[in-house]
Amino acid sequence: MTSVKIGFEHVRKEFSVRGEGGGKARRFVALEDITLDVRPGEFLALVGPSGCGKSTLLDLLGGLATPTSGRILLDGRPIEGPARDRGIVFQQYALFPWRTAAQNVEFGLDIAGMKRRERRERALHYLELVGLAGFADRYPHELSGGMKQRVAIARSLAYDPEVLLMDEPFAALDAQTRETLQDELTRIWRATGKTILFITHGIDEAVVLGQRVAVMTSRPGRIKHVVEIPPALQSEEEDVRSLPEFGRVRHEVWSLLREEVLKAQQQAAAAGAGRGARVLEDVAHV
Ligand SMILES: Nc1ncnc2c1ncn2[C@@H]1O[C@H](COP(=O)(O)OP(=O)(O)OP(=O)(O)O)[C@@H](O)[C@H]1O
Ligand SMILES: [Mg+2]
Repeated sequence: MTSVKIGFEHVRKEFSVRGEGGGKARRFVALEDITLDVRPGEFLALVGPSGCGKSTLLDLLGGLATPTSGRILLDGRPIEGPARDRGIVFQQYALFPWRTAAQNVEFGLDIAGMKRRERRERALHYLELVGLAGFADRYPHELSGGMKQRVAIARSLAYDPEVLLMDEPFAALDAQTRETLQDELTRIWRATGKTILFITHGIDEAVVLGQRVAVMTSRPGRIKHVVEIPPALQSEEEDVRSLPEFGRVRHEVWSLLREEVLKAQQQAAAAGAGRGARVLEDVAHV
């Protein structure tokens, strides 16, 4: 068994974007030289300024897009498109509104050749695991935001993927619900031993959940630093959020991130100023 579950090797991703004012298309570098190993069963949190390429990284890993250069290995093999060994939880609750909670969780299991009764049992099992026993027959519009996100998590778990890819899954939730789901996810992770890559804007969330926290640079996204979370902050019994050590690590991650957020803001301001200047030129030409 390899000690690397997911290996990013010098991954670069470029997009072709339209030039301003309908000008010639140009290449846009979203990710540059991403090299990172994720261990089997590891919980890795990924933080970085808005637009630095976090979702792009997840798309590559999910097989929804391909790197421009470099490669991504899963269990030592290059990724070739989406597959059920990787479950994805998107930021938006991607539920079918015309299906009940259980039917949403069951979705796709028939492709795996599972019989109706077995599908139903599995759906109920995972709904129970995320604290939704008794809500199986509710439709999404009858559920709260937090409940919908739990259904989405149950669905991704129902395929029993070895890897869970989560893109800011709790971002839209209120603070209490978010903390409850963080604790639940930690419990599920401990119980199932899955490898989790968890993207978040929340530094507290990253430090509470992750065994390591990878901090990305502003555009183009690179891995700036990987912070190891000390074992004291991974205690099952204690509320780690109240430990002094938590404040120290939180500050470390924040300091790394702050620089990048400021750079991203400057980039955005410069782009805006550039556009503004061109608008003025256009006006002058009229
Ligand atoms: N299909 C695409 N075509 C062109 N550019 C794209 C495409 N997808 C993403 N981008 C650009 O790549 C950059 C990274 O986008 P991405 O969505 O990965 O950022 P992010 O880190 O997830 O941001 P956020 O934290 O706001 O979700 C952005 O500048 C975005 O505009
Ligand atoms: Mg994103």
